[in-house]
Amino acid sequence: MTLFSRLEAPAPDAIIALMQRFAADDRPHRVDLGVGVYRDAAGRTPVMAAVAAAEARMLAAQETKGYLGLAGDPRFIAAMEGLLLGASPGDRAAAVATPGGSGAIRQALALVRMANPGAEVWIGRPSWPNHAAIADELGMGVRLHSYLGADGRADAAAMLAELGQARAGDVVVLHASCHNPSGADLDASEWAAVADLFAARGLLPLVDVAYQGFGDGVEEDVAGLRLLAARLPEVLVAASGSKSFGLYRERVGLVLALCDGGRAARATGGALQSLNRKNFAFPPDHGARVVTTILEDPVLRADWQAELDAMRHRVRDLRAALAAALREATGTARFDFLTGQRGMFSLLGLSPAQVERLRAEHAIYLVPDGRANIAGLSETTLPQLAVAIAEAVRAEG
Ligand SMILES: Cc1ncc(COP(=O)(O)O)c(C=O)c1O
Repeated sequence: MTLFSRLEAPAPDAIIALMQRFAADDRPHRVDLGVGVYRDAAGRTPVMAAVAAAEARMLAAQETKGYLGLAGDPRFIAAMEGLLLGASPGDRAAAVATPGGSGAIRQALALVRMANPGAEVWIGRPSWPNHAAIADELGMGVRLHSYLGADGRADAAAMLAELGQARAGDVVVLHASCHNPSGADLDASEWAAVADLFAARGLLPLVDVAYQGFGDGVEEDVAGLRLLAARLPEVLVAASGSKSFGLYRERVGLVLALCDGGRAARATGGALQSLNRKNFAFPPDHGARVVTTILEDPVLRADWQAELDAMRHRVRDLRAALAAALREATGTARFDFLTGQRGMFSLLGLSPAQVERLRAEHAIYLVPDGRANIAGLSETTLPQLAVAIAEAVRAEG
């Protein structure tokens, strides 16, 4: 047997499998509520105006595409630190650019493994599947803790009780806002309780910031992160520019480590650069430069923020409209929880058989766990979805 003929292709994760299945469906009315991208009323994932303007400027001004340092552009790092933390973290920070938020999560976990080879990775149930997949690929032990309550809200009490079993030096993945897949976020008092527990037990948060601006606002969505940064000696952040800047395919990400003092930060920065070197060497620059150009220019920044605010409002309006349409179609308040949740995703509480029914009979694609990308709906598809769900619920309860 030759070498590669021994390989079995690993099953793609549920979301990637769904993208492939959708692409192969030729029904003209098919609706993709699977993959997590923002769509406008016409169903497009737009290039944001500030991004197009920044790219035009860059095209006119850029004189070289020579290598940068292993950490990427220091101005990108400074701009992102400001966006995430609201102020410069000074000499306690170490950061490197990465290929997207996924790359940042991988490098952040690899850093934890380097510092504490026995560290376990605690992940809420449910979470974005790639969290556990990346930890597993790195050979790190994964522990699950409760997160989502039966009422569609975060069950912080259960989460904190189970995290009481975590050992000092373990890392806990937290979603800054717009929890994926549930849309259920922690409130301010719950973030404070997280900070208390982590401080008391020496736990390290890894805050995944993938939807800044899609929940309650650009500042509001990182309030929990900022609280942890103020209270804890060490915090890890994995940030993505994919959704907040609409730069999905450009692969914009940052891993930021807040350390206990300047000496630790310098060593951590060196460790992160060495991890970059060994994984992919230099991080992608184009998307990072777009983000820097926008964040450094007050006019572009205001324009970006206004467009992002409009996207957030559209998702909020879609949530309210879907809850109302479902109330009418089902004659129950079963889906009212949608309005209290934030961001693109919610779990609709449908069985895999009901999800399959939506696909087979209505060409509506959801992730098998019942996650819907609310941002993928339009004025036409929203009533279609409500009717289809009501039918599936009536058929199977
Ligand atoms: C929770 C969460 N974290 C991180 C990411 C990373 O996104 P990307 O690697 O495209 O920047 C995503 C994307 O779907 C996500 O949903």
